[in-house]
Amino acid sequence: SFFNIFTIVLLLLSAVRIVLAESIPIGLSLNSSHPSIFQSWMNLMDGACSSLDIASFYWTMTNNDTGTHESSAYQGEAVLNKLVELSGKLTVRIAVNAPQQRQPIDDLRLLSDSGADIRIVNMKDLTSGVLHTKFWIVDKKHIYIGSANMDWRSLTQVKELGAVVYNCSCLAADLGKIFEAYWFVGENHSIPSPWPSSFSTHYNKDTPLQLPLNNTPSSVYLSSSPPSFCATGRTSDLQSILSVIDDAQSFIYIAVMTYQPTTDFTLPKRYWADIDTQLRRMAFERRVKVYLLISCWANSQPLMFPFLKSLSSVYSPNGRLDIQVRLFVVPSSASQKHIPFARVNHNKYMVTDKVAYIGTSNWSGDYFLSTAGSALVINQTGSPEPSVQAQLKDVFERDWSSQYSTPLTQDTELRDLKDLCSNI
Ligand SMILES: *[C@@H]1O[C@H](CO)[C@@H](O)[C@H](O)[C@H]1NC(C)=O
Ligand SMILES: *[C@@H]1O[C@H](CO)[C@@H](O)[C@H](O)[C@H]1NC(C)=O
Ligand SMILES: *[C@@H]1O[C@H](CO)[C@@H](O)[C@H](O)[C@H]1NC(C)=O
Ligand SMILES: *[C@@H]1O[C@H](CO)[C@@H](O)[C@H](O)[C@H]1NC(C)=O
Ligand SMILES: *[C@@H]1O[C@H](CO)[C@@H](O)[C@H](O)[C@H]1NC(C)=O
Ligand SMILES: *[C@@H]1O[C@H](CO)[C@@H](O)[C@H](O)[C@H]1NC(C)=O
Repeated sequence: SFFNIFTIVLLLLSAVRIVLAESIPIGLSLNSSHPSIFQSWMNLMDGACSSLDIASFYWTMTNNDTGTHESSAYQGEAVLNKLVELSGKLTVRIAVNAPQQRQPIDDLRLLSDSGADIRIVNMKDLTSGVLHTKFWIVDKKHIYIGSANMDWRSLTQVKELGAVVYNCSCLAADLGKIFEAYWFVGENHSIPSPWPSSFSTHYNKDTPLQLPLNNTPSSVYLSSSPPSFCATGRTSDLQSILSVIDDAQSFIYIAVMTYQPTTDFTLPKRYWADIDTQLRRMAFERRVKVYLLISCWANSQPLMFPFLKSLSSVYSPNGRLDIQVRLFVVPSSASQKHIPFARVNHNKYMVTDKVAYIGTSNWSGDYFLSTAGSALVINQTGSPEPSVQAQLKDVFERDWSSQYSTPLTQDTELRDLKDLCSNI
């Protein structure tokens, strides 16, 4: 009868579980109550029985790339070995950005020899961007999305945040459409316009998927960039960020590696203030508190800081303006300093009083105009127990108030930042 079907559907939906996953770099004293990204990937692979689709930027899962013998590369190697094993048994498909000259391709060669199907997406030719997305789809049922690259450092030497959604074939099918778009351009080398209807979606910022996540009523959708990769119905990543910001009532917490109101690597460089303007507007018109936790490391783009300082000048306790910026530094021991491209906070998420946004993009113009990225948006407005939103808020507050974060104020001398960022 109808009621039986209804009960079964409810039971199936109530098995939908979302878990935040974190990589906390070795040596940091931050407590995480979430599973590690390493554990989450291993669990996903242990449970896999038919298929695994991975969208990725580049692959360096062993430390062959650095020619070092880092014991902290073990986790990356374990993931690669497990993937090699699965590649012989299941349908494993990998979409990867076209490797740039000096990028190693050993892992990809090994996976391909083991039976994985690999397509190279040449974003440089297609949009002058890169394929920067990082997500997994397992058995067309479970998904992982987040900041971690397929890089051994992402599991032990870089701070990362992602989410795993288990038992959610609707969402997996929708992320599958984004994957199929990469898969298509990887073979065809051109971007369809318009995209065929098989890439269209019903789930977006206006009509999200409604479901209980960990038994909390939630509405959920996936956004994608660049706009030329969005089929009918897909919310672009920028529109999604702007709408989440616009919807906030009391606070907006943003943790991203890079924040810049400019384009950075597409020439000519342009001023690009879509997000910046929206943040200032919210602080002024609605008195929403805006906190940004930005990463600072030896490779930080120096021009990022004057713009951040400008944003943090929108601060006046009497005038009820509250934009604050802090810089997060991951300290390194003498030996950790020798690991290239490590020891940085690589998170890319936002949490407001209602919504959790977990993405894969840096926040500068290129990432929304030409680079392929994606995000999971979870809206728990009105839920008595906004579980994911509350967990993400806890992560932000932990990092914001930790010993690793330093306020960037009008008194901060920009020339001191070089020491702070490459320091310790
Ligand atoms: C998925 O749901 C089934 C029951 O519907 C449950 O047994 C299983 O543990 C769930 N999987 C995960 C990873 O939560
Ligand atoms: C982490 O948790 C332990 C045990 O609960 C506690 O003793 C320690 O102070 C916590 N560390 C931080 C940095 O919060
Ligand atoms: C890494 O280097 C070792 C030793 O040279 C080699 O056996 C192994 O195949 C390399 N790994 C990959 C993925 O190329
Ligand atoms: C690429 O896709 C377009 C549109 O679907 C199609 O017309 C064209 O034949 C395809 N080219 C290749 C090389 O597959
Ligand atoms: C979240 O859901 C509420 C209630 O359905 C809706 O009014 C609001 O616009 C949604 N927010 C976002 C950012 O999608
Ligand atoms: C993000 O931005 C930084 C600084 O511009 C850059 O070094 C990095 O490659 C970008 N992409 C990733 C992987 O986050």
